[in-house]
Amino acid sequence: MRYKSRKYFIAGRINLIQRSKIRELFERASKMKNVISLGIGEPDFDTPQNIKEAAKRALDEGWTHYTPNAGIPEFREAIAEYYKNTYGIEIPMEKVIVTVGAYEATYLAFETLLEDGDEVIIPDPAFVCYVEDAKVAEAKSIRLPLKEENGFQPDPDELLELITKRTRMIVVNYPNNPTGATLDEETAKAIADIAQDYNIYILSDEPYEHFLYENAKHTPMLKYAPDNTVLANSFSKTFAMTGWRLGFTIAPEQIIRDMIKLHAYVIGNVASFIQIAGVAALREKESWDAVKQMRDTYAERRRIVLDYIKEMPYISAFEPKGAFYVFANIKETGMKSEEFAEWLLEKAGVVVIPGTAFGKNGEGYIRISYATKKNKLIEALERMKTALEEL
Ligand SMILES: Cc1ncc(COP(=O)(O)O)c(C=O)c1O
Repeated sequence: MRYKSRKYFIAGRINLIQRSKIRELFERASKMKNVISLGIGEPDFDTPQNIKEAAKRALDEGWTHYTPNAGIPEFREAIAEYYKNTYGIEIPMEKVIVTVGAYEATYLAFETLLEDGDEVIIPDPAFVCYVEDAKVAEAKSIRLPLKEENGFQPDPDELLELITKRTRMIVVNYPNNPTGATLDEETAKAIADIAQDYNIYILSDEPYEHFLYENAKHTPMLKYAPDNTVLANSFSKTFAMTGWRLGFTIAPEQIIRDMIKLHAYVIGNVASFIQIAGVAALREKESWDAVKQMRDTYAERRRIVLDYIKEMPYISAFEPKGAFYVFANIKETGMKSEEFAEWLLEKAGVVVIPGTAFGKNGEGYIRISYATKKNKLIEALERMKTALEEL
């Protein structure tokens, strides 16, 4: 039988997923002329040459087939070795799966560890994917407000108050997107203690671990709660490899075995030649020299943004020690975050992301990304300053 007009029946869970507000703003901006985007959340650098060469060589050497689902053993070993060399954390390669970026890593964590009615504590503001992952896993998101006066870190007492019998997981993401905040060792330990006491998983999403400024140190949650932590990490930011889609998860072996079941049928394995390039990224000096150069460049731009903001009326900034974002307070303008972002786009042709894209608690803030070339960044800041002075 043929239908006159076709109606597509779509599973309800898909309708629960909200398209990112960041995307909508980009779409509008792309139709306008002379717009500078400080909205982008990806490095403006090219992938280091040695990594590209390694991928090309791998193709020529025949790395064009399926690999084991969890990843090529040499790559899993290189990831384990990287944790040992960088943080002194010993991990057998059986605790590692190679994933399609941190996105897949977080998705696997939600799908493997949570089910209908389970509660997951997600900070507010937070990166956009966790709440959507929770919906697909049919888990309930409980938002933990992060406050500027606490350096956008969780208050352990407030965290404790949110814990119920159904709490299964807490999401931690430092250095943080959108706030640029880092996590103090004391707070990391407090979160670890709570997770251990209440038998809660910590999903720790750490793709910005190498972008730290003013002597800030990274606090990898694996160090503080190794048996409770599911780490999501990525090559996207560290090595400017967003388009390669390469990341990994580290978790207790039993969890990894279960994650592989899902990964095996959705992804199969991450592209083989890309995994070989990942080995080069981790083991070759040239890629780490490039990371240092990127960090130095971000550090200079961060200073420029913070100095400009000090000169602007109605706006102030928490001084972030990580990632490549500044989360600026715009409450004094009297505008809501979305209104401000729209006003700035119309008035100055500058894209920033409204804080509310990351949760209700982002109201009164905007996210400025400095993953933008210096001359464009300065021009955007000049335009912003003029617009605010005329307000
Ligand atoms: C905090 C955070 N987690 C995960 C991701 C996803 O990154 P990937 O490219 O590794 O999937 C991003 C990307 O912006 C991010 O900012």
